[in-house]
Amino acid sequence: MKTNMLYGQDILSADQFSQKFIQSISQEADVMRALVAKKGGSDILKGKIMTALFYEPSSRTIGSFITAMQRLGGGFVPLQGMTNSSVAKGETLADTVRTFASYSDIIVIRHSAVGAAAVAAEFSNKPVINAGDGPGEHPTQALLDMYTIMRHFGTVKGRTITMVGDMKNGRTVHSLAKLLSLYSGITIRFIAPPTLQFPDELRKKLIDAHCTVYSGDTLEDILPVTDALYVTRVQKERFTDLKEYEELKHRFVITPKTLRAMKKTAIIMHPLPRIGEIDMDVDLDPRAVYIREQMENGMYVRMALLKMILVR
Ligand code: NCD
Repeated sequence: MKTNMLYGQDILSADQFSQKFIQSISQEADVMRALVAKKGGSDILKGKIMTALFYEPSSRTIGSFITAMQRLGGGFVPLQGMTNSSVAKGETLADTVRTFASYSDIIVIRHSAVGAAAVAAEFSNKPVINAGDGPGEHPTQALLDMYTIMRHFGTVKGRTITMVGDMKNGRTVHSLAKLLSLYSGITIRFIAPPTLQFPDELRKKLIDAHCTVYSGDTLEDILPVTDALYVTRVQKERFTDLKEYEELKHRFVITPKTLRAMKKTAIIMHPLPRIGEIDMDVDLDPRAVYIREQMENGMYVRMALLKMILVR
C-alpha cells in the first residue's frame, strides 16, 4: 500500500485497517521518530489546521495529536470540555462539525456516544479521526498499541496477548482486538469480572477471523504464558451505579508479585490513565512499556497519520 492511500480519508474504526496498512504506518512512524530526534520536526503540514473537538476528557490523545500537528508545522484549534463553546448553548454535533470543517483541514473528535465520529464524518467535508466514541472504538490508540507490540516482538505471530480490566467498556480493547485478529497464530485472552466481559458480538467477529480467544476472570494462571499484558482502567464514566464501579475498580491490580509470575521477555502495556490498577513499583521494571515507550509512540503514529491523510 502506498502511504498516500490514506489521503483525504476518515479514520473511524479499526475495521478499516489491514496488515499492510499497519506495516506502512509503522514505517512512517519510524521515519517520524528519526525526524524528531534529528530536527524536532518539519514543515510538511505548514498551512494545515487541525480541530481537536473533545467532548470527553483527554490528556495523551489530545496532547499527542496537537504536538504531532505542531511538529509537522501545522496549526490547531483546541476545543476541550465544550463548556466554553456553543455546545454548552445546545448546538448540535452536526452544526459544530460543519463549523470547524469550514475553518480547518481535519477534525479529530472524541465523544461519549458510540458512532458519534461516524455522524461527524457525515457532516464534515474534511477528514474526521475518531479519537474515542464512548465505549465504541479508539482506532488510533490501537495503531500505536500495535506499533509498540511490533517494535518489541518483530511479529505478533504465535504470541499471547492478555487484556485485563474493563473489556466491556474499554474502547481501546475493542479496537486493538480487531487489529490483532488480522494476524494468524495469535491468542487473545480477555480477563475481566463477569459483568465487564468482552462483548459477544465482537468476540464472534474475532472467532470468524480464526483468532484463538479465551475469556476468564482470573489472571494468575495465564501470566506465565502471556507475551503482552494489556492493562486497562475500569471505565467509571460508563457506570450508572457508582457502588458497582467501586467494587470492581481494583479487582485486578498489577504489582511486583504479578511481574514475578511473568516471562522475562513479556511487556506490560496500558493506554493510560491508570487509576490504581498498576502499582507504581511496577514502573521501574524494564518490561513496563506504558510510560517509557507506549505514550511517546502515540505521537509518532499520529504524526504519521496526519501526514498520510493531509499530504497527497
Ligand atoms: C483511553 C481512552 O480514552 O479510551 N485513553 C487514551 O486515549 N489513552 C483509555 C482510558 O481512558 O481508560
